[in-house]
Amino acid sequence: MKRNLIILFTVTLLIFNNSDAQMLKGTFTTGDKVFLLNGKPFVIRAAELHYPRIPKEYWEHRIRLCKAMGMNTICIYLFWNLHEQQQDQFDFTGQNDVAEFVRLVQKNGMYCIVRPGPYVCAEWEMGGLPWWLLKKKDIRLRDISDKFFIERTGIFFKEAGKQLASLQIQNGGNIIMVQVENEYATYGSDQAYMKAIRDLVRSAGFDKVQLFRCDWSSNFNKYELEGVATTLNFGAGSNIDNQFKDFQQIYPSAPLMCSEYWTGWFDHWGRPHETRSISSFIGSLKDMMDRKISFSLYMAHGGTSFGQWGGANAPPYSAMVTSYDYNAPINEQGLTTDKFFAVRDLLKNYLQEGETLGDIPEAMPVIEIPVFELNESASLFANLPVAKTTADIQPMEEFDQAWGRILYRTLLPAFTAKQKLIITEVHDWATVFINGKTIGKLDRRRGDNTVEIPAVAAGAQLDILVEATGRVNYGKAILDHKGITEKVEITDGKNKKELKNWTVYNFPVDYTFQKNMKYTAAKTNGPAWYKGSFTINKSGDTFLDVSHWGKGMVWVNGRNLGRYWKIGPQQTLYLPGVWLKQGKNEIIILDVDKPASGEVAGLSRPVLDKINPDEFLLHRAKGQTLNLTGEVPVHTGTFTEGSGWKEVIFSRPYKGRYLCFEALNAQKVNDPLATFAELELTGADDKILSSLKWKIMYASSEEITSANHGADKIYDQQESTFWQSQSVGEKPNYPHQLVLDLGTVEVIKGFRYLPRSDKKTDGMIKDFRVFFKKDPFKY
Ligand code: GLA
Ligand code: CA
Repeated sequence: MKRNLIILFTVTLLIFNNSDAQMLKGTFTTGDKVFLLNGKPFVIRAAELHYPRIPKEYWEHRIRLCKAMGMNTICIYLFWNLHEQQQDQFDFTGQNDVAEFVRLVQKNGMYCIVRPGPYVCAEWEMGGLPWWLLKKKDIRLRDISDKFFIERTGIFFKEAGKQLASLQIQNGGNIIMVQVENEYATYGSDQAYMKAIRDLVRSAGFDKVQLFRCDWSSNFNKYELEGVATTLNFGAGSNIDNQFKDFQQIYPSAPLMCSEYWTGWFDHWGRPHETRSISSFIGSLKDMMDRKISFSLYMAHGGTSFGQWGGANAPPYSAMVTSYDYNAPINEQGLTTDKFFAVRDLLKNYLQEGETLGDIPEAMPVIEIPVFELNESASLFANLPVAKTTADIQPMEEFDQAWGRILYRTLLPAFTAKQKLIITEVHDWATVFINGKTIGKLDRRRGDNTVEIPAVAAGAQLDILVEATGRVNYGKAILDHKGITEKVEITDGKNKKELKNWTVYNFPVDYTFQKNMKYTAAKTNGPAWYKGSFTINKSGDTFLDVSHWGKGMVWVNGRNLGRYWKIGPQQTLYLPGVWLKQGKNEIIILDVDKPASGEVAGLSRPVLDKINPDEFLLHRAKGQTLNLTGEVPVHTGTFTEGSGWKEVIFSRPYKGRYLCFEALNAQKVNDPLATFAELELTGADDKILSSLKWKIMYASSEEITSANHGADKIYDQQESTFWQSQSVGEKPNYPHQLVLDLGTVEVIKGFRYLPRSDKKTDGMIKDFRVFFKKDPFKY
């Protein structure tokens, strides 16, 4: 008896006080409407963290913060393109040592959920897929018909399995669930593909653990996946009962889980900083706790997309800033926020038996660095690397370049008059030079593709310097080559001629490449590297103020801190104290635009919300007004009240290219606001048209100052983002109009409309008219 008691006591110690000890072999499964941990009901309270977005030295600090916030589980993605940066060269060491991360989670008495992809989204370069997949000309990503894609996924999973399979709970580790793919229903509905990925996960060694998949309440039933639990993702302020309504009908005995409860949102270059209020966020979290619904906070702590890892969304192309602060409960530098304490105060009431809240670990030290100058520089044009040549223009992957900048050079024939250069397509930001002089800049966010070039003598040198700012991480546009993707033509307005015979220079992002430039004290103009140093006597976290700089990247002591761009909203770069040393520290900046000064300083707080006011964000010129006189609508209708997708079919199909949607009034009387989350157009064959080439031509009113509610939010394929007429300051009343250019003439039978999907009902549209024509509208 006494012996048994001692064993029981030891086991209890191991389970509840296992600061260093291994957890015992256990089980985790789905039961009747509940998850079962070792046979007992268990509510998952997970916190999402991304190990590459946190310096390794801080991993445990952030894990402990999550525990102190009231979490029992940490949820992670695996980033395939981080671990296999070159085909067949795997790296799971140091900062990439994910097994070490999972063991740290276990050491702190927490469980782990692993989401190996292959695709993960996450506002991460190409959604985690490796760039070298694009070297296969006809690659079909996330597609079972592409043998290479499937084969490489299997190889990566096997490597991941070697690292993590032994940490499944059934083997004595802490991994309770593993995810299959990621929100696949936003991309496709091919069951065979999902089955193949599920089987690859299992054969990589994750053969004991509970599998799951995540999708949205609007699309989770697009496919089924046997042997895999289903969970839903949604954002702060959601109506919980609505979210799970259809789900519970289809899976009446399944446990409920919100596998990504979005705590905030991510930021785009040139767009206002995103926040989500504590009240809306906490309200829905409490609703979940009251219903014993499992959840994972995406993100609990976002951290930083260091280096080249920030992704982009499209359409329209829009790259992510470097900070992944996410307005999360734990901020970018690992400090607690009001949201953190709101979560902690809530969750302390919902702990499982025997559980206590973890202590809040001390904050990391912070330093300031007085202003200093980078006074050496190296002009890009004076430091060209070895050249390559190609008859036809090619994207950078064809030159074995993964990330960074690429320069295309050719000689022009003589022109006696002005010409137009047409570039198809610029990925993502280009400066055009003739004989070394800047003649134009092209920005993919605006769909720029032409620049005027003056008359030149034969042999004038044309240079196109292209900077890649993050491969698309979401939707069909993830097949995103960088540099110039197709061709460069020149036209006098009548004839078009493709330019050939290019000399190409590649500028990768590796530190060793930047370090070896010929730096001098002479002043430079145009794209250049800048070098300097600063001295500190005590190390600590700091934020480099790069607001005087144009556009580029920063390396400190060889660490790539990420991209910056003067348009904001991010004006500082997080520099972790553990990457600094006492004494002298080196800094290199590559600027492809034009710094206003060579100054940098270290601030104690980040600046994440300062947009450069020069940047024009509205889809309406000053004083411009749409003129619908004489236009005949193809459809006039009334939306029913309430949320969820609504389908409208016209009396017959119509042909056109320009679509005007006019909202006439709101569901609520006297509500001046209009909101609109997603628009889909139904083609002649009943299929939904691709929106990849769409462009907003006009929006009568947009809220783009207090929040990110531009008109392009109606086709960004994100159900939680929406167009909203101006709601702060002036609140223009109905009608609210929006004009869309589809890019080509199409036949449409009707459209699908999604109203805003949060709990609020302001701006829900009631009556509307639709115009559709081949010619542009008049203003
Ligand atoms: C989805 C994805 C995540 C992330 C969020 C938005 O839920 O699954 O990877 O992209 O959207 O932050
Ligand atoms: Ca949207």
